[in-house]
Amino acid sequence: MAKEKKSYKIAIFAGDGIGPEVVREGLKVLDEIEGLEGFGTERVEYPYCTQHYLDTGELMPEAIFDELRKFDAILVGAIGDPRVEVGLVERAIIGGIRFRLDLYVNLRPIKLYAEHLCPLKDKKPEDIDFVVVRENTEDLYAGIGGFLKKGTPDEVALQEMIFTRKGVERVIRYAFDVARKRNMGKKLTLVDKANAVRAMDLWTRTFEEVGREYEDIEKDHAYVDAATMWMVKNPEWFDVIVVNNMFGDIITDLGAMLQGGMGVAASGNIHPGQVSMFEPIHGSAPKYAGKNVANPLATIETIKMMLEFLGEERGAQRIGKRVEFLLASKQIASLSAASGLSTSQIGDMVTEGLAES
Ligand code: IPM
Ligand code: MN
Repeated sequence: MAKEKKSYKIAIFAGDGIGPEVVREGLKVLDEIEGLEGFGTERVEYPYCTQHYLDTGELMPEAIFDELRKFDAILVGAIGDPRVEVGLVERAIIGGIRFRLDLYVNLRPIKLYAEHLCPLKDKKPEDIDFVVVRENTEDLYAGIGGFLKKGTPDEVALQEMIFTRKGVERVIRYAFDVARKRNMGKKLTLVDKANAVRAMDLWTRTFEEVGREYEDIEKDHAYVDAATMWMVKNPEWFDVIVVNNMFGDIITDLGAMLQGGMGVAASGNIHPGQVSMFEPIHGSAPKYAGKNVANPLATIETIKMMLEFLGEERGAQRIGKRVEFLLASKQIASLSAASGLSTSQIGDMVTEGLAES
């Protein structure tokens, strides 16, 4: 009897702005990889995004979260649209998925594929290759807070930076495991602001305690302000960083620039062993929407991360090698929307060489 073909269930939220066009190119690449590697995907597209909200008044129905638990992975294009209240749709869809599915790791690799893309002087691909493990379910993002006397001169606005022992411990443990599995610098740097935010002492203590189980991993520490300095001055010092949600949000935009910009930065919102969500770090870039100029490489790299998560290592490697070749050879010379290459052209260029990559 023929071996049954492996198949993964993927939920897709193409989203707002450039989301649908970059997702289209990402899926083009996925189609090709499936053919080459002999697996399949069953894809379900969900309509939830700002336009859907404007058309129907519906944000993200409650029942969808339970439905999503039945998938292997979720792919999101981009969410955000200035026509509605700031953060409304992002909180409902991205926040909703992260929190409701308890995706406690936000994994953000910072890897420079080609020297000319780096804004730093004299830094080469071997100097910029690290991973940020951002906590993804606590901190200022937990939504604990509110307003008192809103709109009056006596207004009070409050938002709590909350950390739990469980939440801190599991993400630190995950980060130590990443450092071990990468087997590169074998170093984990805790980034925090424990000198000013004393609640972060919980991170200091947990890092030390969990660290005792990882004798093979070097432990390092940097305050977040200094970390931004080191990321620019000596990015080669970093192997794996573990960081709270809020500071992780900020330093990963800086990290994205080190690797050439938002046009190539990908992320995975992960709960090991459960359905996880993958998205490019960039926003919806409304001014480029529908023009076929946005660079789809970040989404293509996101597909690569999704394949790694699914255990399709070879397919993931093919994508990484192909993207690296196209950037290093300057066939794709720039990551900006003004690169002279269209969204679909870049998707085709990646797809065409995958068989040989
Ligand atoms: C990110 C984004 C989100 C965040 C926004 C859209 C809420 O900036 O994924 O980094 O702050 O986490
Ligand atoms: Mn961000």
